[in-house]
Amino acid sequence: MAELRKSTVLVTGAGGRTGQIAYKKLKERADQYTVRGLVRTQESKIKINGGDDVYIGDITKADTIVPAIEGIDALIILTSAVPKMKPGFDPAKGGRPEFYFEDGGYPEQVDWIGQKNQIDAAKAAGVKHIVLVGSMGGTNPNHPLNSLGNGNILIWKRKAEEYLADSGIPYTIIRAGGLQDKDGGVRELLVGKDDELLKTETKTIPRADVAEVSIQALNFEEAKFKAFDIASKPEGSGTPTKDFKALFSQISARF
Ligand SMILES: NC(=O)c1ccc[n+]([C@@H]2O[C@H](COP(=O)([O-])OP(=O)(O)OC[C@H]3O[C@@H](n4cnc5c(N)ncnc54)[C@H](OP(=O)(O)O)[C@@H]3O)[C@@H](O)[C@H]2O)c1
Repeated sequence: MAELRKSTVLVTGAGGRTGQIAYKKLKERADQYTVRGLVRTQESKIKINGGDDVYIGDITKADTIVPAIEGIDALIILTSAVPKMKPGFDPAKGGRPEFYFEDGGYPEQVDWIGQKNQIDAAKAAGVKHIVLVGSMGGTNPNHPLNSLGNGNILIWKRKAEEYLADSGIPYTIIRAGGLQDKDGGVRELLVGKDDELLKTETKTIPRADVAEVSIQALNFEEAKFKAFDIASKPEGSGTPTKDFKALFSQISARF
């Protein structure tokens, strides 16, 4: 009997905190997926024990990402501008730390141009599904995250989300709540729209759960052409989410 063709999936930002988890999970499901990663540096490649399946590229430079995207079936975008804390902050003295973005690493360059470059390259390569992980808060232009390092990060992220939704490529836009480095698979996940979850007590989610949802989205038609917010109940309250088809079926919003 002919073997079913495995789906080739690229995780970008594979050296990042959620990207690493998604890359590892896909590797563990080698019967279903052929995985690739895209990282920015050789150090990140070493950090994730990447072999020939991990490409080095800079999403703000379109030509550098083409080899990673050529020949894939699906793309999980987990790249993001990363704010850095200005030196000199002393928590003992109180106040708030200040943040900045490195040259070339502003949200406009990474979260807009960089994500757009990936979407364009994926479209040219005939990619069949793009999962884009972003953040809740994008409905409020005055969200405090936008003033971080004067980056307007949520505004640029949302622009990329719109671009993807208009691209014609089947997409899943996942807008996560506050990310936590906690165990995945042990919480009930909650989906929402238009930042409504931000008005509730449940507005955080483990990175491991976000990584799992981004992979599960590849498996279900119910996740395609959808955009949703996601958070989790605290561990121990509610029933851990196992049925992802049912989770995605709850979502009707296309943006
Ligand atoms: N932090 C939160 O509470 C929160 C809440 C909701 C949503 N989110 C969103 O969830 C997503 C995942 O967050 P995370 O904290 O897991 O991510 P992260 O650790 O900040 O990882 C972001 C990755 O993007 C990569 N990257 C940045 N610029 C790049 C470039 N020009 N070319 C190639 N790669 C580039 C970084 O590479 P390097 O490793 O080389 O720097 C890093 O690996 C992000 O979109 C984030 O905004 C975060």
